[in-house]
Formats: sequence, C-alpha cells, structure tokens
Amino acid sequence: MSHPDRFLMAGIMGWPVMHSLSPKIHNYWLSKHGLAGTYVPLAIQAEGLRAALRALPALGFAGCNLTIPHKEAAFEVVDRVDPLAQRTGAINCVVVAPDGSLDGRNYDGFGYIHGILEVYPAWRADARPIVVIGAGGGARAVLVSLVDQGAREIRLFNRSPERAQALAREFGAPIKALAWNDRHAALEGVAMLINTTSQGMAGQPALDLALNKLPTSALVSDIIYVPRETPLLAAARLCGNPTVNGLGMLLHQARPAFHAWFGVMPEVTAELRAMIEATI
Ligand SMILES: NC(=O)c1ccc[n+]([C@@H]2O[C@H](COP(=O)([O-])OP(=O)(O)OC[C@H]3O[C@@H](n4cnc5c(N)ncnc54)[C@H](OP(=O)(O)O)[C@@H]3O)[C@@H](O)[C@H]2O)c1
Repeated sequence: MSHPDRFLMAGIMGWPVMHSLSPKIHNYWLSKHGLAGTYVPLAIQAEGLRAALRALPALGFAGCNLTIPHKEAAFEVVDRVDPLAQRTGAINCVVVAPDGSLDGRNYDGFGYIHGILEVYPAWRADARPIVVIGAGGGARAVLVSLVDQGAREIRLFNRSPERAQALAREFGAPIKALAWNDRHAALEGVAMLINTTSQGMAGQPALDLALNKLPTSALVSDIIYVPRETPLLAAARLCGNPTVNGLGMLLHQARPAFHAWFGVMPEVTAELRAMIEATI
C-alpha cells in the first residue's frame, strides 16, 4: 500500500536548465495519468552534481534527467551504468533504486528511433546506406541506436575528421568515417540523411550541404527542434523528400524515463506535441 505522503518527484539537473522543456512534458503526463507529483528544473552547477544526485533518495525523488554539463560527469557518481548508456558515453536519466542506490541510463537513442517510427511506422534502419553528419554527443546516441536497429552502412562525416574516425573505430563495421569534402557526393543512393550537428539551430548558420545527389525518396532527419524546420529540412521538403525534426527524439526519450520512475509508460499524444510546439 502506498504511503499517505507519497508525492511523486523527479526533475532535470543542468546548468543552464530553465530553458528545458522536460518539466512541461513530464508534468503533462503526471496530470494526464492522475498521479500526484511534480517534475522540477534543478539548476545545479558542475561542482554540485555529486551532492545533488546523492540527495535524491532523501528528498524522495524517483530520479532525474541530466543535461549539459552533467551527462558525462555522472558516470563518476552513479552506482551502476546500464550497457546502453555505457556505449552512448552519456547518462541522461538517473533512477533511484529501492535501496537508495543510483542507476545511470540513456534513453536518447530510444527517443531518436521512436521519434522516426511515430511519423514513419514502416521505417527500417537496414534498408540502404544512411548518411550521418556530425560526431558530437547527439551523434553518439543516434549512431548507437542505428547500429542496434541493424543499419548496414552508415557514411559518417564530421568537420573535424578525427572525431568521426574515433566513432567508426569505437562502433565498428557499419560505420565508415569519410572525408568532410565528400559529404555532398556521398548522398547518392542513400535511404536516409541525418543532421546531428548544431548547424541550422536557431542563431547558427545553415548546414553547408548540397542536396542535388540525394534521392527524393530519402528520409531527411534533423535532431534539432528549434526552429521546428531547419534550413536543411526546408530545402529537403522543397525537393519532395519526407522530413522529421528532432522534437520526436526529445518527446520519446522522456517515455521510458517516466516509466522507470513512476511505473506508467506514457504516450506522445497530439495534445502533448501541440503544447510543446506552441512553446518553441
Ligand atoms: N532532439 C534531441 O532530443 C536532441 C538531443 C541531443 C542534441 N540535440 C541537438 O543536436 C545538436 C548537436 O548537439 P550535441 O550535443 O551533439 O553537440 P556537440 O556534442 O557539441 O556536437 C556538435 C557537432 O556539431 C558540429 N559542428 C559545430 N559547428 C559546426 C560547423 N560550423 N560546421 C560543421 N559542423 C559543425 C561539430 O563538429 P566538430 O566536431 O567539428 O566541432 C559536432 O559534430 C544541437 O542543436 C542540440 O540541440 C537534440
């Protein structure tokens, strides 16, 4: 039987954190499922991470999300890291176990795949080659999830080639790190193009990429969601390509976290999506 003072608590630790959309997402689900609780932004600086995470059990938190600058530093604090978070190289979700110990997980890859499947349920990673641009934190989550979904050939391009080469060595066979200048020509014959760089984000220039070699059937995905349509997605849409922005990744990574904390697997409803889109 639940405790009479049981009030569900979770939050997101980051610095800065007040821009985060996660409180809106999780508080929508708490209310939708009739659960008494709250999800709060927690402005925690790097030097406070250990104490803040260790305080979660005493504060009655079921866990928390982590954002910049804590996703890597948390490895040194949590008691266990699941294999997917280990491979992704980042922890975006901490779950407080019944004994007060801390589990580190990463649901960004789940979010990426389910964000695509929500829009294109028949999508498969193993159809034809995929081009991925970028080799930062977002790229790692996308690459791990594509490899796990059976992608056979991923052509990886990064402005700083050594980062792409390191990821190809780490993740193995399906990933080929190629020369940055060859990215335009490499779009020939691909089933999918994914931008994981910050280029095209609000306040940043557009990604420098010519789409003339890209088949019009190729799915174009950008993990950016501010703006909702990046210059890359707008150009692809004008060519007739199907497109998906990064909002689905954000919304869907939140689902297994909510489930791990509160025991309910929530859905990304049209109402939730519209509410979040209205704030962007
Ligand atoms: N939808 C979601 O849930 C989600 C999740 C994670 C990230 N994101 C978004 O993804 C984007 C990247 O985030 P991140 O965490 O991966 O960042 P990051 O680790 O800092 O990586 C940035 C990437 O962008 C590349 N880049 C930066 N400036 C460039 C330029 N002028 N020309 C070409 N490439 C350039 C970097 O290349 P170099 O290695 O050469 O610097 C690197 O590959 C951000 O817009 C972020 O908001 C979205």
